[in-house]
Amino acid sequence: MSIRTLGIETSCDETAVAVIEADAQGCRLLGEALATRPEEHAALGGIVPELTVRQHLELLPRLTAEAKKKSGNVSVIGVGATAGPGLAPALLVGLSFGKALAWAQKNSFHAINHLEGHLFTPFVSQGGWPTYPHVALIVSGGHTLLVAATGPRARRILGTTRDDAAGEAFDKLARMVGLGYPGGAALEREAREGEPGCFSLPRPMRGMPGCDFSFSGLKNAARLLLEKDPAPATPGPNRANFCAEVQAAISESLVDRSEQALKETGIETFTVSGGVSANRGVLQALKKMSEERGVEFISAGGGWNTDNASMIAAVTARRILDGQDSDWDADADPRWSVAT
Ligand code: KG4
Ligand code: ZN
Repeated sequence: MSIRTLGIETSCDETAVAVIEADAQGCRLLGEALATRPEEHAALGGIVPELTVRQHLELLPRLTAEAKKKSGNVSVIGVGATAGPGLAPALLVGLSFGKALAWAQKNSFHAINHLEGHLFTPFVSQGGWPTYPHVALIVSGGHTLLVAATGPRARRILGTTRDDAAGEAFDKLARMVGLGYPGGAALEREAREGEPGCFSLPRPMRGMPGCDFSFSGLKNAARLLLEKDPAPATPGPNRANFCAEVQAAISESLVDRSEQALKETGIETFTVSGGVSANRGVLQALKKMSEERGVEFISAGGGWNTDNASMIAAVTARRILDGQDSDWDADADPRWSVAT
């Protein structure tokens, strides 16, 4: 039996709607529409909650129509919306819209954890469902987590960041050298033209016990370096070399912490998801470590690594296939943990 579901994602500043088709083997994206207007926030100096809410409110009906049209206007049996973690007022818009849509269409309604969505992406982007056990690294602008998933509802957090998220570190360091915001992808493009090792930055937490992350020391070291030598703040080979060193420092830190998680658990499947996993340097470093340890490595491809609604629709489909009831009473939970 195959089913179709619609997912809604509004946990931060991005609005996304997707329709997928799923069966016992896995799922397939039928149509997705997403929009974000970072320039409106940038003009105000960062993410402004009220502006985010107004954008979601304005965009959701149009994006829903667009995603449905792209899917060939198939009918769905369930709607899922992100209920946390994230920005409370933004979550409430998606949740209310999702409940109303499901109610009007006589569908079931499901409140989905955004991080569970990220955990699904490496598997569902390859057309399958999550397998267990696996160790998952989630690296985005808001989250840096290592999770041991031993069953569909058996998840334990192995490590998290003590300060900034990995994506936040990329963004802050990119901003220091004038690459705009969010600058992770721009920093990667610069890094491709440069060589690590020309500048020297620390590898955060490398060799430390446990699986926690910390990026504030790296940020401070970069600030001190730029105070002494401002050359990387202007375009040219110095900036490219600086970016290559930043990327190597963050990659090596992620590799070290992930390897520690694999050693601690003895688990032999390792996944990575979230916006930072779009970085090819990071991806290659994690893949190499996994291969050296004889561990299966799975990453989310295409548009599945950055925030999206397909992953929310996928978790919704899994819920329905597993026979779970609707969550009509669900409230937004800005701090909803992925641990069970
Ligand atoms: O998962 P995501 O789209 O949204 C959050 O849940 O945060 O991740 C966005 C983050 C941003 O910090 C962005 O700079 C970073 O992912 N990012 C990258 C790259 N592409 C996106 N960081 C490094 N290299 C990239 N290619
Ligand atoms: Zn995310």
